[in-house]
Amino acid sequence: MSGRPVRRGMGGLLILLVSACDQGPMTNQPKYETFEPAPRWPHNQSARVPVAGTVARGEAIDPRVPETLPMPLTRELLERGQALFNIYCSPCHGRDGAGAGMIVQRGFPAPPTLHSDRLRQASLRHFYDVISHGYGVMYAYADRVARSDRWAIAAYIEALQLSQYARVDDLTAEQRARLEGGSSGQAGEGAQQ
Ligand code: HEC
Repeated sequence: MSGRPVRRGMGGLLILLVSACDQGPMTNQPKYETFEPAPRWPHNQSARVPVAGTVARGEAIDPRVPETLPMPLTRELLERGQALFNIYCSPCHGRDGAGAGMIVQRGFPAPPTLHSDRLRQASLRHFYDVISHGYGVMYAYADRVARSDRWAIAAYIEALQLSQYARVDDLTAEQRARLEGGSSGQAGEGAQQ
């Protein structure tokens, strides 16, 4: 009999502890659910843009962007750029960069050709920046295309531009002979297109 009051007291303590876990202020704090509207914030959005200089997990920490290609220009890099351009950019810009991609043919506003004089003179860094930050109505690809891949795409755009303006004079004698021997008469025209 003498132990009873103590046990009762412990039971009460247990109930107190359990209820504290369930209802405590740590559980019910004011917070926004994902994408919940927030009238006090700009554009009524609770989802905020990351602070400038935020580095995503897995990204290099140094946020400074080099002025030009920070890696060797290799065939491998261009092939990677080509693959990514075809995935991310060609739906609007077309595989040839002329601006008549598949969704443009379905009514989406057409981007400019990448073969204009201005864009042929543009730097690799300009393409890198357009991919990173978007341009006019084109949205940014920073969250989908890693930094090194942006350079690969930029380098590929230059290769694409060159492909539309290659002249017969740019070819080596051996390449010319192969071209002229391969398709008699049509060679010059084909190369200049
Ligand atoms: C959903 C369609 C769409 C996709 C996808 C797209 N773009 Fe664009 N892009 C546009 C449009 C539209 C413009 C013109 C924007 C403007 O002038 O307001 C543009 C403009 C550009 C320009 C020209 C910038 C200048 O100086 O005039 C470049 C370069 C470019 N895009 C590169 C890319 C690359 C590289 C990708 C892939 C990573 C890409 N775009 C993906 C629609 C797209």
